[in-house]
Amino acid sequence: MENCAVFAGLHPIPPNQLLGPSRSALKLLPPFFTEKTHLFSLPLKLQKQSHFALGTTSNNNGTTSRVASPTSNVTTELADIDWDNLGFGFMSTDYMYVMKCSQGENFTKGELQRFGNIELSPSAGILNYGQGLFEGLKAYRKHDGKILLFRPEENGLRLRMGAERMCMPSPTVEQFVEAVNVTVLANKRWIPPPGKGSLYIRPLLMGSGAVLGLAPAPEYTFLIYVSPVGNYFKEGLAPINLIVETDMHRATPGGTGGVKTIGNYAAVLKAQSAAKAKGYSDVLYLDSVHKRYLEEVSSCNVFLVKGNVISTPAIKGTILPGITRKSILDVALSQGFQVEERSVSVDELLDADEVFCTGTAVVVSPVGSITYQGKRVTYGADGVGRVSQQLYSALTSLQMGISEDKMDWIVELK
Ligand code: COI
Repeated sequence: MENCAVFAGLHPIPPNQLLGPSRSALKLLPPFFTEKTHLFSLPLKLQKQSHFALGTTSNNNGTTSRVASPTSNVTTELADIDWDNLGFGFMSTDYMYVMKCSQGENFTKGELQRFGNIELSPSAGILNYGQGLFEGLKAYRKHDGKILLFRPEENGLRLRMGAERMCMPSPTVEQFVEAVNVTVLANKRWIPPPGKGSLYIRPLLMGSGAVLGLAPAPEYTFLIYVSPVGNYFKEGLAPINLIVETDMHRATPGGTGGVKTIGNYAAVLKAQSAAKAKGYSDVLYLDSVHKRYLEEVSSCNVFLVKGNVISTPAIKGTILPGITRKSILDVALSQGFQVEERSVSVDELLDADEVFCTGTAVVVSPVGSITYQGKRVTYGADGVGRVSQQLYSALTSLQMGISEDKMDWIVELK
């Protein structure tokens, strides 16, 4: 990997100046990163083209961001990494976005910092009581150089819903999308070439202030970092093998299964590790009340195909409202499928033509087999099912800017 950051093709930064987001490090940055704060605004509706240039403006919320200003006449070099073998592993990039606010206040001012470790009190709410949320979305590089985001405002909305459940202040959707945009542009050289993968964007919202008694933290940090990624499962695009978990549950009614809080993911590690040790790709969870209805897989939503009908568990508080899930339902409808959001019994797995999973990280992942109470059901003949393939192609063509965006889901950055 290249160890010398080049931002927007300008001013290589010596390796010894790359570590840490400290103030002294900031002084070593290219001219547009010096003490002087460059502010800019974004239109309220961020559906289309966003241009960033040097200048001092502020947006409707009074949000300000210290940012670099990629301009269209600057050539961006690609980071020197093995683009042909990206998996879903963390790779540090150049910049992260940080914005803080106190409890009872609103987020107002964020800034780009060099990517690096953050400092937290051992008593931080996130560390002691798990007061935290994360999001996940992706940026794609098109052949014409344009950078595309897929429905970023949906992630911003979901973060707000989760923040309400977790008693945290959250950025507005507009602030969220603006922060995503500047973070992606600042890390442009890490966006994989077309067809090689995507830049995974990981926004975090956490109680960063110190607490001892159980209570919401006094301070909150919104942070975004990014990492180039390829396929999520080691199987690549080949079908995955799932096992249905009958003892452990991912979520309970009235709990936090329907929001993207960090604890939901720690809670599945035990079942997931056991499944992986037995050679399965991941775990499919059942509802905790009847132990009979499908919920979701550790990191993604699940769908069944039977004839022309595509079914997925309904959102009712225990299942994450996936943005890819919602998009696939719309894409399937537009392609003439009948779609159903309902309770899906585990018995229906026996009878399905195809099963697939959806998520930002996994995209659309076909399921080759599911094991339930020792019995293995297989789908297809080792190949990817016709419907899974069709929906995968339709969705990824949209996300990569190959097909026309009739849904108005794509945000272009330059
Ligand atoms: C995503 O799909 O973006 C997620 O947040 C799931 C995560 C476990 C990788």
